[in-house]
Amino acid sequence: METVVSGIRPTGNLHLGNYFGALRNFISMQNEHNCYFFIADYHSLTTHPTPQDLHGNVRQILVEYLAAGLDPEKSTLYIQSDVPEVSELYLFLNMNAYIGELERCTSFKDKIRQQPNNVNAGLLTYPTLMAADILIHRATKVPVGKDQEQHLEMTRTFGNRFNRLYNVDYFPEPQAFNFGQELVKIPGLNGSGKMGKSEGEGNAIFLADEPGDIRKKVMKAVTDAGPTEPNQAKPEAIQNIFQLMKVVSTPETFEYFDEKYNTCQIRYGDMKKQLAEDMILFTTPFRERIKAILSDEEYVSKVARMGKNKAQESAAKTIREVREIVGFKKF
Ligand code: TRP
Repeated sequence: METVVSGIRPTGNLHLGNYFGALRNFISMQNEHNCYFFIADYHSLTTHPTPQDLHGNVRQILVEYLAAGLDPEKSTLYIQSDVPEVSELYLFLNMNAYIGELERCTSFKDKIRQQPNNVNAGLLTYPTLMAADILIHRATKVPVGKDQEQHLEMTRTFGNRFNRLYNVDYFPEPQAFNFGQELVKIPGLNGSGKMGKSEGEGNAIFLADEPGDIRKKVMKAVTDAGPTEPNQAKPEAIQNIFQLMKVVSTPETFEYFDEKYNTCQIRYGDMKKQLAEDMILFTTPFRERIKAILSDEEYVSKVARMGKNKAQESAAKTIREVREIVGFKKF
Protein backbone atom coordinates (compact mmCIF):
# COMPACT_ATOMS: atom_id res chain seq x y z
CA MET A 1 0.00 0.00 0.00
CA GLU A 2 1.28 3.42 -0.98
CA THR A 3 0.81 6.70 0.81
CA VAL A 4 -0.61 9.07 -1.78
CA VAL A 5 -0.85 12.86 -1.53
CA SER A 6 -2.48 15.26 -3.94
CA GLY A 7 -3.50 18.89 -3.67
CA ILE A 8 -5.68 21.21 -5.72
CA ARG A 9 -5.69 24.99 -5.59
CA PRO A 10 -9.14 26.46 -4.86
CA THR A 11 -9.28 28.74 -7.87
CA GLY A 12 -12.37 27.53 -9.69
CA ASN A 13 -14.98 24.85 -10.09
CA LEU A 14 -14.11 21.35 -11.24
CA HIS A 15 -14.54 20.65 -14.93
CA LEU A 16 -14.63 17.54 -17.11
CA GLY A 17 -10.86 17.82 -17.58
CA ASN A 18 -10.31 17.57 -13.82
CA TYR A 19 -12.69 14.66 -13.66
CA PHE A 20 -11.19 12.54 -16.44
CA GLY A 21 -7.63 13.67 -15.76
CA ALA A 22 -7.32 12.94 -12.07
CA LEU A 23 -10.48 12.75 -10.05
CA ARG A 24 -11.72 9.52 -11.59
CA ASN A 25 -8.39 7.91 -10.73
CA PHE A 26 -8.45 9.29 -7.18
CA ILE A 27 -11.78 7.58 -6.69
CA SER A 28 -10.38 4.18 -7.59
CA MET A 29 -7.13 4.79 -5.70
CA GLN A 30 -8.89 5.34 -2.41
CA ASN A 31 -9.78 1.66 -2.19
CA GLU A 32 -6.20 0.49 -2.50
CA HIS A 33 -4.03 3.15 -0.93
CA ASN A 34 -3.66 5.44 2.02
CA CYS A 35 -4.77 8.65 0.30
CA TYR A 36 -4.55 12.27 1.40
CA PHE A 37 -6.43 14.69 -0.83
CA PHE A 38 -6.31 18.30 0.22
CA ILE A 39 -7.27 21.79 -0.91
CA ALA A 40 -4.19 23.98 -1.20
CA ASP A 41 -5.53 27.23 0.18
CA TYR A 42 -2.15 28.45 1.48
CA HIS A 43 -0.80 28.02 -2.03
CA SER A 44 -3.57 30.09 -3.55
CA LEU A 45 -2.27 33.15 -1.67
CA THR A 46 0.91 33.15 -3.79
CA THR A 47 -1.15 34.36 -6.75
CA HIS A 48 -4.30 35.69 -5.04
CA PRO A 49 -3.16 37.40 -1.82
CA THR A 50 -6.53 39.04 -1.14
CA PRO A 51 -9.13 36.50 -2.28
CA GLN A 52 -12.74 37.62 -2.57
CA ASP A 53 -14.20 34.56 -0.90
CA LEU A 54 -11.50 32.11 0.11
CA HIS A 55 -13.75 30.12 2.40
CA GLY A 56 -16.47 29.83 -0.24
CA ASN A 57 -13.98 28.69 -2.88
CA VAL A 58 -12.53 26.05 -0.56
CA ARG A 59 -15.97 24.84 0.40
CA GLN A 60 -17.04 24.57 -3.23
CA ILE A 61 -14.09 22.32 -4.13
CA LEU A 62 -14.63 20.20 -1.04
CA VAL A 63 -18.30 19.75 -1.98
CA GLU A 64 -17.43 18.95 -5.59
CA TYR A 65 -14.83 16.39 -4.50
CA LEU A 66 -17.49 14.69 -2.38
CA ALA A 67 -20.08 14.89 -5.15
CA ALA A 68 -17.63 13.31 -7.60
CA GLY A 69 -17.17 10.34 -5.32
CA LEU A 70 -14.27 10.93 -2.97
CA ASP A 71 -15.13 9.12 0.21
CA PRO A 72 -14.11 10.85 3.47
CA GLU A 73 -14.21 7.50 5.26
CA LYS A 74 -11.74 5.90 2.87
CA SER A 75 -9.46 8.86 2.13
CA THR A 76 -8.28 11.76 4.20
CA LEU A 77 -9.97 14.77 2.67
CA TYR A 78 -8.72 17.98 4.22
CA ILE A 79 -7.94 21.63 3.88
CA GLN A 80 -4.26 22.58 3.91
CA SER A 81 -4.66 25.50 6.33
CA ASP A 82 -6.41 23.19 8.81
CA VAL A 83 -3.04 21.51 9.28
CA PRO A 84 -0.58 24.23 10.33
CA GLU A 85 2.06 21.53 10.83
CA VAL A 86 2.50 21.88 7.06
CA SER A 87 3.71 25.44 7.51
CA GLU A 88 6.20 24.38 10.17
CA LEU A 89 7.69 21.75 7.87
CA TYR A 90 7.74 24.42 5.13
CA LEU A 91 9.86 26.56 7.46
CA PHE A 92 12.34 23.75 8.10
CA LEU A 93 12.59 22.86 4.42
CA ASN A 94 13.10 26.51 3.47
CA MET A 95 16.29 26.60 5.53
CA ASN A 96 17.80 24.09 3.14
CA ALA A 97 16.19 25.22 -0.10
CA TYR A 98 18.62 27.32 -2.09
CA ILE A 99 17.63 30.55 -3.81
CA GLY A 100 19.34 29.46 -7.03
CA GLU A 101 17.36 26.26 -7.45
CA LEU A 102 14.10 28.01 -6.56
CA GLU A 103 14.77 30.76 -9.09
CA ARG A 104 15.45 28.20 -11.80
CA CYS A 105 12.05 26.57 -11.33
CA THR A 106 9.97 26.86 -14.50
CA SER A 107 6.71 27.69 -12.74
CA PHE A 108 8.45 30.54 -10.87
CA LYS A 109 9.79 31.96 -14.11
CA ASP A 110 6.30 31.76 -15.62
CA LYS A 111 4.77 33.50 -12.61
CA ILE A 112 7.34 36.33 -12.74
CA ARG A 113 6.12 37.00 -16.25
CA GLN A 114 2.45 36.73 -15.30
CA GLN A 115 2.56 38.90 -12.19
CA PRO A 116 5.64 41.18 -12.40
CA ASN A 117 4.24 43.43 -9.68
CA ASN A 118 3.88 40.66 -7.14
CA VAL A 119 7.02 38.52 -7.21
CA ASN A 120 6.66 37.56 -3.56
CA ALA A 121 8.69 35.14 -1.47
CA GLY A 122 5.76 32.74 -1.32
CA LEU A 123 5.92 32.43 -5.08
CA LEU A 124 9.64 31.69 -4.93
CA THR A 125 9.12 29.07 -2.22
CA TYR A 126 5.99 27.52 -3.77
CA PRO A 127 8.01 24.31 -4.35
CA THR A 128 9.05 24.05 -0.71
CA LEU A 129 5.43 24.44 0.42
CA MET A 130 4.42 21.74 -2.04
CA ALA A 131 7.28 19.55 -0.77
CA ALA A 132 6.00 20.10 2.77
CA ASP A 133 2.51 18.95 1.67
CA ILE A 134 3.97 15.72 0.37
CA LEU A 135 6.68 15.04 2.95
CA ILE A 136 4.42 15.82 5.92
CA HIS A 137 2.73 12.44 5.31
CA ARG A 138 5.96 10.83 4.12
CA ALA A 139 4.16 10.03 0.89
CA THR A 140 5.50 7.58 -1.65
CA LYS A 141 3.24 8.48 -4.58
CA VAL A 142 1.97 11.75 -5.99
CA PRO A 143 -0.52 11.70 -8.87
CA VAL A 144 0.63 14.71 -10.87
CA GLY A 145 0.43 15.88 -14.44
CA LYS A 146 3.43 16.88 -16.56
CA ASP A 147 3.27 20.47 -15.33
CA GLN A 148 4.01 19.38 -11.75
CA GLU A 149 6.88 17.01 -12.45
CA GLN A 150 9.55 19.58 -11.72
CA HIS A 151 7.94 20.36 -8.37
CA LEU A 152 7.96 16.67 -7.54
CA GLU A 153 11.61 16.44 -8.52
CA MET A 154 12.34 19.35 -6.16
CA THR A 155 10.41 17.56 -3.42
CA ARG A 156 12.75 14.60 -3.81
CA THR A 157 15.73 16.96 -3.72
CA PHE A 158 14.54 18.58 -0.48
CA GLY A 159 13.68 15.27 1.16
CA ASN A 160 16.98 13.69 0.19
CA ARG A 161 18.88 16.77 1.29
CA PHE A 162 17.18 16.66 4.68
CA ASN A 163 18.12 12.99 5.04
CA ARG A 164 21.73 13.71 4.07
CA LEU A 165 22.19 16.83 6.22
CA TYR A 166 20.83 15.22 9.36
CA ASN A 167 22.22 11.81 8.52
CA VAL A 168 18.89 10.01 8.70
CA ASP A 169 16.82 7.89 6.39
CA TYR A 170 13.59 9.64 7.22
CA PHE A 171 11.77 10.91 4.12
CA PRO A 172 10.99 8.40 1.36
CA GLU A 173 11.40 9.51 -2.25
CA PRO A 174 7.94 10.28 -3.63
CA GLN A 175 7.36 9.15 -7.21
CA ALA A 176 4.78 10.23 -9.75
CA PHE A 177 1.75 7.99 -9.67
CA ASN A 178 1.40 6.61 -13.14
CA PHE A 179 -2.15 5.99 -14.27
CA GLY A 180 -0.89 4.30 -17.43
CA GLN A 181 -3.50 4.20 -20.17
CA GLU A 182 -6.16 5.46 -17.81
CA LEU A 183 -5.07 9.05 -18.37
CA VAL A 184 -7.49 10.59 -20.86
CA LYS A 185 -6.72 14.04 -22.23
CA ILE A 186 -9.75 16.27 -22.31
CA PRO A 187 -9.60 19.07 -24.87
CA GLY A 188 -11.36 22.38 -24.46
CA LEU A 189 -14.15 23.74 -26.62
CA ASN A 190 -12.31 26.58 -28.28
CA GLY A 191 -10.37 24.64 -30.85
CA SER A 192 -6.98 23.97 -29.32
CA GLY A 193 -5.32 22.84 -26.15
CA LYS A 194 -6.77 21.21 -23.09
CA MET A 195 -9.85 22.00 -21.08
CA GLY A 196 -9.07 24.58 -18.43
CA LYS A 197 -10.68 27.40 -16.55
CA SER A 198 -7.92 29.81 -17.55
CA GLU A 199 -8.15 28.96 -21.26
CA GLY A 200 -10.88 31.46 -21.91
CA GLU A 201 -14.60 31.87 -21.43
CA GLY A 202 -16.65 28.90 -22.55
CA ASN A 203 -13.71 26.52 -22.96
CA ALA A 204 -14.57 24.28 -20.02
CA ILE A 205 -17.66 22.30 -19.05
CA PHE A 206 -17.99 22.33 -15.27
CA LEU A 207 -19.51 19.52 -13.24
CA ALA A 208 -21.87 22.09 -11.72
CA ASP A 209 -22.96 23.62 -15.05
CA GLU A 210 -26.67 23.96 -15.72
CA PRO A 211 -28.02 22.30 -18.90
CA GLY A 212 -28.64 25.68 -20.54
CA ASP A 213 -25.02 26.71 -20.06
CA ILE A 214 -23.77 23.42 -21.45
CA ARG A 215 -25.90 23.78 -24.57
CA LYS A 216 -24.68 27.32 -25.11
CA LYS A 217 -21.01 26.45 -24.69
CA VAL A 218 -21.12 23.34 -26.84
CA MET A 219 -23.01 25.05 -29.67
CA LYS A 220 -20.28 27.71 -29.71
CA ALA A 221 -17.47 25.14 -29.93
CA VAL A 222 -15.07 25.78 -32.79
CA THR A 223 -15.58 23.68 -35.95
CA ASP A 224 -14.73 24.17 -39.64
CA ALA A 225 -16.34 24.00 -43.08
CA GLY A 226 -16.35 20.20 -43.00
CA PRO A 227 -14.41 17.48 -44.83
CA THR A 228 -14.20 17.54 -48.60
CA GLU A 229 -12.70 14.09 -49.15
CA PRO A 230 -13.69 10.72 -47.67
CA ASN A 231 -11.69 9.56 -44.61
CA GLN A 232 -9.89 12.87 -44.40
CA ALA A 233 -7.72 13.43 -41.30
CA LYS A 234 -9.49 15.54 -38.68
CA PRO A 235 -8.03 18.94 -37.84
CA GLU A 236 -7.44 19.64 -34.14
CA ALA A 237 -10.71 21.43 -33.39
CA ILE A 238 -12.71 18.57 -34.93
CA GLN A 239 -10.63 15.92 -33.19
CA ASN A 240 -11.46 17.73 -29.99
CA ILE A 241 -15.21 17.49 -30.28
CA PHE A 242 -14.90 13.84 -31.28
CA GLN A 243 -12.71 13.21 -28.24
CA LEU A 244 -15.29 14.87 -26.00
CA MET A 245 -17.98 12.73 -27.57
CA LYS A 246 -15.89 9.65 -26.94
CA VAL A 247 -15.89 10.24 -23.19
CA VAL A 248 -19.52 11.25 -22.66
CA SER A 249 -21.53 9.56 -25.44
CA THR A 250 -22.20 5.90 -26.23
CA PRO A 251 -19.87 4.08 -28.65
CA GLU A 252 -22.77 3.87 -31.12
CA THR A 253 -23.25 7.63 -31.12
CA PHE A 254 -19.53 8.17 -31.62
CA GLU A 255 -19.42 5.67 -34.51
CA TYR A 256 -22.46 7.27 -36.12
CA PHE A 257 -20.84 10.72 -36.32
CA ASP A 258 -17.43 9.30 -37.19
CA GLU A 259 -19.01 7.54 -40.15
CA LYS A 260 -20.79 10.76 -41.16
CA TYR A 261 -17.45 12.56 -41.05
CA ASN A 262 -15.70 9.90 -43.09
CA THR A 263 -18.37 10.04 -45.77
CA CYS A 264 -18.42 13.86 -45.79
CA GLN A 265 -22.02 13.98 -44.62
CA ILE A 266 -21.33 15.41 -41.19
CA ARG A 267 -23.46 18.25 -39.89
CA TYR A 268 -21.62 19.77 -36.99
CA GLY A 269 -24.79 21.41 -35.68
CA ASP A 270 -26.40 17.99 -35.21
CA MET A 271 -23.26 16.57 -33.70
CA LYS A 272 -22.96 19.40 -31.21
CA LYS A 273 -26.62 19.11 -30.24
CA GLN A 274 -26.08 15.44 -29.49
CA LEU A 275 -22.82 16.16 -27.64
CA ALA A 276 -24.51 18.79 -25.47
CA GLU A 277 -27.34 16.40 -24.52
CA ASP A 278 -24.87 13.64 -23.67
CA MET A 279 -22.79 16.02 -21.58
CA ILE A 280 -25.94 17.04 -19.73
CA LEU A 281 -26.76 13.37 -19.08
CA PHE A 282 -23.24 12.81 -17.85
CA THR A 283 -22.98 15.85 -15.58
CA THR A 284 -26.53 15.87 -14.17
CA PRO A 285 -25.90 13.39 -11.33
CA PHE A 286 -22.83 15.45 -10.34
CA ARG A 287 -24.73 18.72 -10.42
CA GLU A 288 -27.53 17.28 -8.33
CA ARG A 289 -25.18 15.86 -5.72
CA ILE A 290 -23.23 19.15 -5.62
CA LYS A 291 -26.46 21.03 -4.88
CA ALA A 292 -27.55 18.55 -2.23
CA ILE A 293 -24.19 18.53 -0.43
CA LEU A 294 -23.79 22.32 -0.68
CA SER A 295 -27.00 22.79 1.24
CA ASP A 296 -26.00 20.34 3.95
CA GLU A 297 -23.78 22.59 6.03
CA GLU A 298 -23.55 20.19 8.89
CA TYR A 299 -22.29 17.37 6.71
CA VAL A 300 -19.65 19.56 5.02
CA SER A 301 -18.38 20.76 8.42
CA LYS A 302 -18.26 17.21 9.68
CA VAL A 303 -16.21 16.09 6.67
CA ALA A 304 -13.79 19.00 7.09
CA ARG A 305 -13.34 18.29 10.80
CA MET A 306 -12.81 14.60 10.20
CA GLY A 307 -10.21 15.33 7.51
CA LYS A 308 -8.43 17.81 9.74
CA ASN A 309 -8.18 15.27 12.55
CA LYS A 310 -6.94 12.47 10.35
CA ALA A 311 -4.42 14.68 8.53
CA GLN A 312 -3.18 16.21 11.75
CA GLU A 313 -2.54 12.84 13.27
CA SER A 314 -0.07 12.01 10.53
CA ALA A 315 1.34 15.56 10.30
CA ALA A 316 1.90 15.98 14.04
CA LYS A 317 3.87 12.74 14.15
CA THR A 318 6.15 13.93 11.34
CA ILE A 319 6.71 17.30 12.97
CA ARG A 320 7.52 15.68 16.30
CA GLU A 321 10.10 13.47 14.61
CA VAL A 322 11.54 16.23 12.43
CA ARG A 323 11.99 18.48 15.46
CA GLU A 324 13.83 15.71 17.20
CA ILE A 325 16.04 15.02 14.18
CA VAL A 326 16.94 18.70 13.75
CA GLY A 327 17.70 18.99 17.46
CA PHE A 328 14.83 20.83 19.09
CA LYS A 329 14.28 19.47 22.56
CA LYS A 330 11.65 20.08 25.17
CA PHE A 331 12.70 22.04 28.27
N1 TRP B 1 0.97 22.66 -7.33
C1 TRP B 1 -0.20 21.85 -7.55
C2 TRP B 1 -0.96 22.40 -8.74
O1 TRP B 1 -0.89 23.54 -9.05
C3 TRP B 1 -1.10 21.83 -6.33
C4 TRP B 1 -0.42 21.19 -5.15
C5 TRP B 1 -0.03 21.82 -4.03
C6 TRP B 1 -0.08 19.82 -5.02
N2 TRP B 1 0.55 20.92 -3.16
C7 TRP B 1 0.54 19.69 -3.75
C8 TRP B 1 -0.21 18.71 -5.84
C9 TRP B 1 1.02 18.47 -3.28
C10 TRP B 1 0.26 17.48 -5.38
C11 TRP B 1 0.88 17.37 -4.11
O2 TRP B 1 -1.65 21.65 -9.38
